[in-house]
Amino acid sequence: MNVNRLILGVLLLFSAQSFAQKGYDLWLQYDEITDTQLQSDYLNKIQGIKILGNSPTLNVSAEEMQTAWKSFFGKELQKKNSGENILLLGQREQLPQKLQQNLKQDFENINSEGYIIKEVKFEGNNTILITGKSDIGVLYGSFRLLREMQLHNKLSNLAITDSPKIQKRVLNHWDNLDRTVERGYAGFSIWDWHLLPDLIKPEYTDYARANASIGINGTVLTNVNANSLVLTEEYIKKVKALAEVFRPYGIQVYLTARFSSPMESGGLETADPLNEEVRQWWKDKADQIYAEIPDFGGFLVKANSEGQPGPNNYGRSHVDGANMMAEAVAPHGGIVMWRAFVYSEHDPEDRAKQAYSEFVPFDGEFADNVLLQVKNGAIDFQPREPFHPLFGAMPDTPLMMEFQITQEYLGFATHLVFLPKLFEETLEEDTYVNGEKSTVAKIIDGTLSNKKLTGMAGVANIGNERNWTGHPFGQANWYGFGRLAWDPYLSSEEIAEEWLKMTFTNNEDFVEPMKEMMLESRETVVNYMTPLGLHHIMRTGHHYGPGPWVSNLSRPEWNPVYYHKADSAGIGFDRTSSGSNALEQYADPIAEKYSSPETTPEKYLLWFHHLPWDYEMDNGKSLWYNMASKYQEGVEEVEDMAENWNNMEQYVDEERFEKVSMLLQIQLKEAKWWRDACLLYFQEFSNMEMPEFIPEPAHTLEYYKNLKTPYAPGI
Ligand code: GCU
Repeated sequence: MNVNRLILGVLLLFSAQSFAQKGYDLWLQYDEITDTQLQSDYLNKIQGIKILGNSPTLNVSAEEMQTAWKSFFGKELQKKNSGENILLLGQREQLPQKLQQNLKQDFENINSEGYIIKEVKFEGNNTILITGKSDIGVLYGSFRLLREMQLHNKLSNLAITDSPKIQKRVLNHWDNLDRTVERGYAGFSIWDWHLLPDLIKPEYTDYARANASIGINGTVLTNVNANSLVLTEEYIKKVKALAEVFRPYGIQVYLTARFSSPMESGGLETADPLNEEVRQWWKDKADQIYAEIPDFGGFLVKANSEGQPGPNNYGRSHVDGANMMAEAVAPHGGIVMWRAFVYSEHDPEDRAKQAYSEFVPFDGEFADNVLLQVKNGAIDFQPREPFHPLFGAMPDTPLMMEFQITQEYLGFATHLVFLPKLFEETLEEDTYVNGEKSTVAKIIDGTLSNKKLTGMAGVANIGNERNWTGHPFGQANWYGFGRLAWDPYLSSEEIAEEWLKMTFTNNEDFVEPMKEMMLESRETVVNYMTPLGLHHIMRTGHHYGPGPWVSNLSRPEWNPVYYHKADSAGIGFDRTSSGSNALEQYADPIAEKYSSPETTPEKYLLWFHHLPWDYEMDNGKSLWYNMASKYQEGVEEVEDMAENWNNMEQYVDEERFEKVSMLLQIQLKEAKWWRDACLLYFQEFSNMEMPEFIPEPAHTLEYYKNLKTPYAPGI
């Protein structure tokens, strides 16, 4: 082979790898600091590092500093024992008495996972101290300092204290043991069960770093539709291997527990939670797990939901089931996250009401180490839902928020949708249960009714794709979930800005337009999929693409027609007192306000009301006209997104640039598909003319109805 071609080949390979590396490195790029002034400021301020104490967590904190330093400045951060301008890492107990005393007030302001970053005198020298009440606090503080540097913030007069506002900040992986991922769109599971515990992939460490950098402190490794195999000795060993990788990063592992495990893997004849043998089986199982994994987090349970076994199979309640498992893990400090996602095919009641009816009577009866895990809305992770009525309705039960980071109903890993905007909307909603400002965030962080145990879960969008999430912007949803789990009062704008700067560049000409694009992207997907309160009109099974016409599934509430109820008289789900009265599950100001379409926010109109096609809306135009206009708006917004992105080529590496460009084109194609299919279908009921701004649909309704994508991913 010609030598030049060989060199070229090697160079190409190298650059291709470094591009791919960009996607892999997530928001921890640690891009070289090229601004000479900033560089010399940083290097003057921090001239060495000293670690007080010795632990795996302190070691990984120091390692992270080195990784960042090499990348920021192309050199190591010298280890020093003393001197001016040293970065000092160590938890409170390791600090000299006098320093502890000086920082008394700061320590009072943080909790056990919080941190203090402060300029102090240490042995008479100017020093930047990162400390906390635990090593994990020091690790979180280290990542915080690195974030400040990635954002190019000045390090003068440093005095930062911060603590997580929520205790259990947990990713839920819906990963199966065969490595398929339910609702996963970024390849197969990152857990290589077959080769565990012997093969430990570097990805496991990088996963832990990424999570720790945003404060995520727990991971449920397995699907809520659980397999009892994971509770067998063979798999516990595999889980243990992962737990050991995660431990220094403060991440606890949890498993999903299939309720019928005592029968399936224990050989018992029943899984009745009041049966003594069954209770003993769970206790023994917990003992066995904790013997291997002393900091095991506990169990996540989906019971009596969508065909999963549960206590109802034995005439027992959710409380009986949850408390049995809670009793098994309690001696070890474990918790149970019991899911409230239940609805029954035998119950003709509006699906949106069922979880509330099922759980509210049990308020106050769950054991202290049980969190009731509630999805943000009462149906199922739709592009937009009002907050779940359970929030605020169970003041004596700690409720854990469950958000979905993976985009099951929001365009998979193909559509650019910045989910923190959705999360923020839910967290900011006022439930009014204790008067004004009883926001969902205050219920989740426990401040509204003084809860000791608090949590937030996010269904992960991570797979074995080189860039973890498939869509490069999907990373922002993982990042944003972690940031909001740490502090549910953060604004989505702040999160978008941080993420863009850390992931791409600090250049304002990139950050500003891209931030705007991200912040609008959620409303965009609502517009072209489910405007004005429509919901669950996706095709069934995989939920890919529009399927408002689907009506042939065995369970009524699995059919889109159940949710939109379009007929010649109008469209929408009447959830007022003349309909299902789901509204009665909300506190008065909401129930009252939303009982009339005139006072219902437009975004929830068809969620709560069935309205005539010619219903006149605020702008004086008909409902039909407004619906068409939303669909069109959605399409045009995606056009704008694609155009804006095209102007960004100079700021982004080729690989990520090209990928996002192509994905935006697919998003545009699919937005048009949504608009055309839905409007053609609904027009059959409205019998009204298509407004002039809607272009001629590319295909007939029959064509859209007949589209088949049997291998759409994620089932
Ligand atoms: C949705 C999703 C399922 C999932 C379920 C759950 O219905 O489509 O795949 O198992 O939610 O949250 O349990």
